[in-house]
Amino acid sequence: MQEPLDQVPADQSAGQPLSSLPTTKVARAARFAKTGLKVGANYVKHYAKRAAGADVSTEDLHAANAAELYGALSQMKGSVLKVAQMLAMEKNILPAAYAEQFAQAQYQTPPLSGPLVSKAFRDAFGKSPYELFDEFEPQARQAASIGQVHFARQAGRALAVKVQYPGVADSIRSDIRLVKPVALRVLGLDEATVRPYLQEVETRLLEETDYALELRRGEAIAAQSRHLPHLEFARYYPELSAARILTMDWLPGQHLKEFLATAPPQAVRNQLGQALWDFYMHQLHTLRQVHADPHPGNFLLRAEHGGTVGVLDFGCVKEIPADVHRLFTALLAPETLADEARLAALLEEAGVLRPQDPPSLRELYLRTLHDSLTLVGRPFRQPAFDFGDPAFMQALYALGDNLMQQPELRQQREPRGSEHFIYLNRTYVGLYALLTELGATVRTGAAVPS
Ligand SMILES: Nc1ncnc2c1ncn2[C@@H]1O[C@H](COP(=O)(O)OP(=O)(O)O)[C@@H](O)[C@H]1O
Ligand SMILES: [Mg+2]
Repeated sequence: MQEPLDQVPADQSAGQPLSSLPTTKVARAARFAKTGLKVGANYVKHYAKRAAGADVSTEDLHAANAAELYGALSQMKGSVLKVAQMLAMEKNILPAAYAEQFAQAQYQTPPLSGPLVSKAFRDAFGKSPYELFDEFEPQARQAASIGQVHFARQAGRALAVKVQYPGVADSIRSDIRLVKPVALRVLGLDEATVRPYLQEVETRLLEETDYALELRRGEAIAAQSRHLPHLEFARYYPELSAARILTMDWLPGQHLKEFLATAPPQAVRNQLGQALWDFYMHQLHTLRQVHADPHPGNFLLRAEHGGTVGVLDFGCVKEIPADVHRLFTALLAPETLADEARLAALLEEAGVLRPQDPPSLRELYLRTLHDSLTLVGRPFRQPAFDFGDPAFMQALYALGDNLMQQPELRQQREPRGSEHFIYLNRTYVGLYALLTELGATVRTGAAVPS
């Protein structure tokens, strides 16, 4: 059931409803080959200018490449946008120009046209959405990265209906195959050595296209988190859901930015921050599975009842194996930082240090990891932590930038450490960034069981 897609308009401007998607392999390959060439050409221009003595900054180069890559990614939609968002969030592994381009990704995808939305419903239920619901708004209320969200009503209830772009699930593997060479070149990495990491990301991305899985995981985590105060979860409607359609209660509230524009009092920010903190610590340490996408788009905030967080989007959930949990917790324990031999042993176990490393490299890894862990663990080591001080997040990002500056580390052609840490790191960085923007003071002590 592929759409007839070979005649993709060359330049679909954002905001125009899509009536076709560039989902055939050929169309996307062509698009990507072009981008690869342009990125390559930008590098050549850059070095030519530099060789000619012109004063050109690496920032300019990154900005040009980011625009090219972004252009191609927004044409491709789908899974690739998720990767872009993830990279945008991990500011420490992307130059600022990429991060800025990609941060907008979620909000720039053009919506699906009415006929494609109806087709998704007919494929799944044999009925149009207008037959299935008492009321269904044809215009999407929100764009999502691999779908869009419509407002509907049924039996008097306000519902959110997430409809996935057609072809996303079918094409995700070939998307990755196309992006890989460009991304590896831009980041200067070698395929074989990054395979486990790519595999981890690919698995999460594929899971994200499975709305039936999202429903099950969302239900499970919500049911096991009901006792936590000031959180709201949407109820799901399995009979109105399918592999590409997810129907749930419409949750009230605002995204972080709009919410902050209403100048909420400090007590409300603190309560919201506490709710988020408690929710994440409960998932990480008790449930051992975690909503691994703490992006501002995935929470709806309200000032009612002193501050309430609506939790959305269980599309990206990381299950934490027991040994990974033990290792991660041990690395963050204060005793570890005071004991270099213990730190070294844990880092060897985590695959960061290797017995054959030359002493200078080993020393450098130990020092940088010690600094990173000190910073990431700082909120745990005091009874309460004021995330409102932007210095903390700045220090975290500066640490990432600093790592990239170390010639000895930059020469390493492969990332190190367990692939399970990718989504755990992302969860921590995302959570900390949210709490920092909220400006919340949170009771953090005793969060990590020892
Ligand atoms: N249950 C809901 N109630 C209200 N708004 C919702 C609901 N679910 C999603 N949305 C809106 O749609 C946006 C995208 O939904 P989300 O589930 O995060 O999609 P994606 O998985 O593609 O990121 C959210 O940021 C939110 O604004
Ligand atoms: Mg989302």
